[in-house]
Amino acid sequence: MKLYILIYSTIYKKCCYLLVNIMNYSSSFILEFCLLFLITYIFQIIAIESKTIVIEPIDTIAISIGIIVIIINDMKKRLITGITPTGNITLGNYAGAIKPMVEAQDDNEVVIFSADLHGITTGNVNGENLEKNTINTIALYLASGIDPSKSTIFLQSEIKEHTELSYLITCHLTYGELSRMTQYKDKSSKFKMSNGTEKVPAGLLFYPSLMAADILLYDADIVPVGKDQKQHIELTRDVANRINKKYGNIFTVPSPMISKSNSSKIMSLTDPTKKMSKSDSDIQGTIFLLDNERDVRKKIKSAITDSENSIHYDPENKPGVSNLIEIIKLLSGKSYEQIEKEFVGKHYGHLKDEVANEVVLFLNNIQQKHKEILESNLIDKVLDDGYKKVKPLAQDKILELKNSIGFYNRNKG
Ligand code: TYM
Repeated sequence: MKLYILIYSTIYKKCCYLLVNIMNYSSSFILEFCLLFLITYIFQIIAIESKTIVIEPIDTIAISIGIIVIIINDMKKRLITGITPTGNITLGNYAGAIKPMVEAQDDNEVVIFSADLHGITTGNVNGENLEKNTINTIALYLASGIDPSKSTIFLQSEIKEHTELSYLITCHLTYGELSRMTQYKDKSSKFKMSNGTEKVPAGLLFYPSLMAADILLYDADIVPVGKDQKQHIELTRDVANRINKKYGNIFTVPSPMISKSNSSKIMSLTDPTKKMSKSDSDIQGTIFLLDNERDVRKKIKSAITDSENSIHYDPENKPGVSNLIEIIKLLSGKSYEQIEKEFVGKHYGHLKDEVANEVVLFLNNIQQKHKEILESNLIDKVLDDGYKKVKPLAQDKILELKNSIGFYNRNKG
């Protein structure tokens, strides 16, 4: 009897997994959920009606628990994201990449890395800064709430498969696709000389291939990023579909996770029409997670607003004020309406004081933890653990792709 139960539940489980795999290529979670229940229902009918399988109540309970575990497991998605250690991490990076990961880590598989290979894209490398920023990035992930017992943290340059996959992906993209990327156009234009010559680093062109490799190597379902990275995720999806079509279903096609609110694009304090950036030459517009209180208060006090003196959220017509409201929302969890209500009849000075208080409170907490982390040996331990978790996944994926493409594999059985 036990054997029948085992065979029955194994077939059932296989059907569920098959469904989950098929549904991976669709984003309809509700449909997936309904189909899983339908399969469950059919299998229960078979079990009850079948004369050969008599399920005792205890076994039914065990199977039901198994079903729930499978469904819950399926609800767990793999999320991946990274930050390039080219400078100090900003409040924008926190909003677009870190916070969504912290919020997701209880119910999902969260993988986050320091994109240090992306850090040398332009070839203009200061090794000391690269190392310092990489350590700070990992420490700030931890200080901001990424919990290493739930999430995986690793260094991109330690997993050689990223560069290998990046090349394999590049061979499936066109120059036109890469050169049409907005980020490439923006950044490469800075390398055009006044005399008409161009010295655009090739790394800038291939940046999205490496980014696609970071994501596809681990079959990530979801990629939390700021708005500026949306186009790169779309290119990742395109190339994943192209490779899947050509060689069989190798990659999970990922979806971007971009907050609908404007926290996916926190704006510069000095020019609220452009994003807050760690590489902006005007650092007064950027709040860095390691800024001291005096600098933060000064930056926020001089933030650009408008002459209306009315505090309401309207990003199009009041970008400066709306950005300040967005920052309060990001850090306090209050809604736009709640914030607007609190500031009825108040002046921009009050709004700025409130933003500064929220930011200082938030940064004090992070900086205290950051200091403790740097004084401990946690970073090495976390990176060792991360390496051990992701390395086998990366190796398997590369092997699968290379075998499917047709590379001669001398180790094959
Ligand atoms: P980086 O370091 O430029 O940005 C890291 C993340 O922060 C987001 N971001 C913002 N979000 C909201 N408001 C802002 N002002 C703001 N500024 C930056 C970015 O959108 C990004 O999500 N190429 C990536 C790093 C990377 C990556 C990956 C990300 C490399 N490989 C694979 C995801 C998956 C980047 O933009 O880094």
